Amino acid sequence: MRFDIVTLFPAIFDGYLTQSLLEKAIAKGLVEIHRHDLRDWAADTPHRKVDDRPFGGGPGMLLQVDVTVPCVEDIERMAETPSRKIMLTPQGERFDQRMAEDLALSDRVLLLCGRYEGFDQRVVDILEPEEVSVGDFVLNGGEVAAMTIIDGVVRLLPGVLGDQNSHVDDSFSRGNRLLEFPQYTRPRDFRGHHVPEVLLGGNHEAIAAWRAEQSRIRTKQRRADLLDEEE
Ligand code: ADE
Repeated sequence: MRFDIVTLFPAIFDGYLTQSLLEKAIAKGLVEIHRHDLRDWAADTPHRKVDDRPFGGGPGMLLQVDVTVPCVEDIERMAETPSRKIMLTPQGERFDQRMAEDLALSDRVLLLCGRYEGFDQRVVDILEPEEVSVGDFVLNGGEVAAMTIIDGVVRLLPGVLGDQNSHVDDSFSRGNRLLEFPQYTRPRDFRGHHVPEVLLGGNHEAIAAWRAEQSRIRTKQRRADLLDEEE
């Protein structure tokens, strides 16, 4: 799977791409991540200006249509297959596990990271990206949101996680719309806090039943909306 990221700050991704799971997935050839500096498409050298004030007034600056659209068109022209285009914006559809699972089926995803007050509306009108938000809060730009999406998607790709089944039980996944049950490891006792007895007995049926019950209790207490969705 290939991701193309359009950003004014490609270096924000440096650490993320060179650590842990992402580094391994890239090394194994399971995922390719290409960063594109939007300023490379700015006409106005040497300032390389990519933004301007909104018509009609208002605070902040907007990323310009005549920079952004050619940038995306060039990236698309270089590739053999068209990509799913995603614009990161707090105005978008909320990213969730279902969307991650759906995106993991794509060969290519292009992520457009906004900054300042976002993009000129004509970027949306012309490129028709899916507008996606990672939550009801405002970030300083789309880069952290793009990393969130990449992180959620890459771990679903075959071969990325050590144990092929380890994402199947994840909270919110297709196989499990409930929150995950609590887990314990050694020591059995710590400052009077004991591991639940049922987990120590080796009765797999009893353990599965306890975990299912715990998932349900947790979900009811914390996210009753997920139980409504399930029914
Ligand atoms: N850019 C700024 N805030 C954002 C959010 N919540 N989701 C996606 N992109 C954003």
